[in-house]
Amino acid sequence: MIGRLNHVAIAVRDIEKATAIYRDTLGARVSAPAPLPEHGVTTVFVELPNTKIELLQPLGEDSPIAKFLERSPEGGVHHVCYEVEDILAARDRLVAGGARVLGDGEPKIGAHGKPVLFLHPKDFCGTLVEIEEV
Ligand code: CO
Repeated sequence: MIGRLNHVAIAVRDIEKATAIYRDTLGARVSAPAPLPEHGVTTVFVELPNTKIELLQPLGEDSPIAKFLERSPEGGVHHVCYEVEDILAARDRLVAGGARVLGDGEPKIGAHGKPVLFLHPKDFCGTLVEIEEV
């Protein structure tokens, strides 16, 4: 059901510092920072030949990644994003199999302007999983 790895998201405290590590130390192409107030994060995308890295910095008061950074002050891998062809069909299949979808279960428009859903880490090997319709 799942297709390509769309991105790996890394939560960071200081997105400028993190961007410099990817751009200058690792020599990757990076996007400009994009504030996404409706998601409570600022993102930078690092373009790799086969996938992307999504750097996430908290934005606003109750950012969904604030707690993560309290537990992991150095930052760390926050979620992985897999592509699906039909997000509602994927959701229904996952829910029928007992998986938990976070939030109200309805897809939201993610950082790429495409519908996304997040799946409970306890159902997926301790890893927060995002699925994105492409
Ligand atoms: Co993501």
